[in-house]
Amino acid sequence: MKKIIELQNIKRNFRVGEETVHALRGISFTICEGEFVTIMGTSGSGKSTLLNTLGCLDTPTSGEYLLDGVSVRTMSKPQRAILRNRKIGFVFQNYNLLPKTTAVENVELPLMYNSSVSATERRKRAIDALISVGLGDRLEHKSNQMSGGQMQRVAIARALVNNPAVILADEATGNLDTRTSFEILVLFQKLHAEGRTIIFVTHNPELAQYSSRNIRLRDGHVIEDTVNTHILSAAEALAALPKNDED
Ligand SMILES: Nc1ncnc2c1ncn2[C@@H]1O[C@H](COP(=O)(O)OP(=O)(O)OP(=O)(O)O)[C@@H](O)[C@H]1O
Ligand SMILES: [Mg+2]
Repeated sequence: MKKIIELQNIKRNFRVGEETVHALRGISFTICEGEFVTIMGTSGSGKSTLLNTLGCLDTPTSGEYLLDGVSVRTMSKPQRAILRNRKIGFVFQNYNLLPKTTAVENVELPLMYNSSVSATERRKRAIDALISVGLGDRLEHKSNQMSGGQMQRVAIARALVNNPAVILADEATGNLDTRTSFEILVLFQKLHAEGRTIIFVTHNPELAQYSSRNIRLRDGHVIEDTVNTHILSAAEALAALPKNDED
């Protein structure tokens, strides 16, 4: 199995006034291609700090991070920005779409920084990504003309469009109702089935049943790392949910 992510004793301290906050206290793990990893832990346990590190949005205080075999620590800021753009797709709780901008334009965005992709190719790839998340009929809808679930689908299409090595999601279902959350989870399971590598941070302990591996953090430490041999089907869970009241 190809290693996509390798963390060796990652520490991240934040100085706040006189105090030092130890957000990550020595995290080590390896994630291989095709894994769907959920990361859990109580508020303040270090989940977002860890995800920001994995996403090259933040640099660790110490430790080694290899992303697809490349040491992130030794890179300059611009090099890291390129690596991030090419290797990582982000999905956030609040979607982070550009307002008053169509679905296609939002999804095209990560390709704008890639001069080897022509405008025609860019549009085609954006449309394909939107079709793959079930939004083929919403291509020209603007962000404010879509539901929360649809906006999150656009965000997922945007995360996919560069064909990244890994998709990072931080509370991607945090703003959505139960039914819509399961619809998004169905989509993540589809991506997993297609061989995508996914790291999904969540508060919701139930979601560990739908991923292939669960890592639990407490106070900046990994306190549990388990492989799930009985992955539940989000599609089945969705079908079993009571229908929304139409009143
Ligand atoms: N930029 C920062 N400056 C100072 N302290 C920070 C910073 N970012 C995070 N922290 C601290 O690091 C710890 C971990 O924060 P983090 O945001 O990673 O937690 P989390 O597990 O994502 O929590 P939540 O579930 O509430 O999102 C917390 O104690 C937090 O206060
Ligand atoms: Mg967080």
